[in-house]
Amino acid sequence: MTADTELDALFAAAQAAQGQAYAPYSRFTVGAAILAEDGRIYPGCNVENAAYPVGACAEAGAISAMVAGGARAIRAILVIGDGAELVTPCGACRQRIREFAAPETPILIAGPDGIRARFSLAELLPASFGPANLPK
Ligand code: THU
Repeated sequence: MTADTELDALFAAAQAAQGQAYAPYSRFTVGAAILAEDGRIYPGCNVENAAYPVGACAEAGAISAMVAGGARAIRAILVIGDGAELVTPCGACRQRIREFAAPETPILIAGPDGIRARFSLAELLPASFGPANLPK
């Protein structure tokens, strides 16, 4: 379970990261924050590129920060974006999260008003392929 204070800290970190997003092409800024096994919070934001497909999602940045910080397991991840619709992770980012998370790991979706929805990884990526699916 994720404590209220941890959720508040995740939300604040993701919102701050969203403010740093580099999204001159889509104008759609996204922030993410991971609460890792070490109790630390790792933020990320989307970073677009003039060569459009090279752009990176906020979740990918947060995962890179976590790994560079020495952690290897996601306890919770929060994604924040604007607009009326839920900003759920894209398919590629669901798989990126999968590498470092358990089926029950919470994926929290927020807007400027706060947390709007909560999913488990298994809900967003059922019957997924992970490290244990590779032959030994
Ligand atoms: N984006 C993210 O960073 N994360 C998501 O979960 C959804 C989409 C970014 C990619 C691109 O820079 C912009 O949002 C518009 O798709």
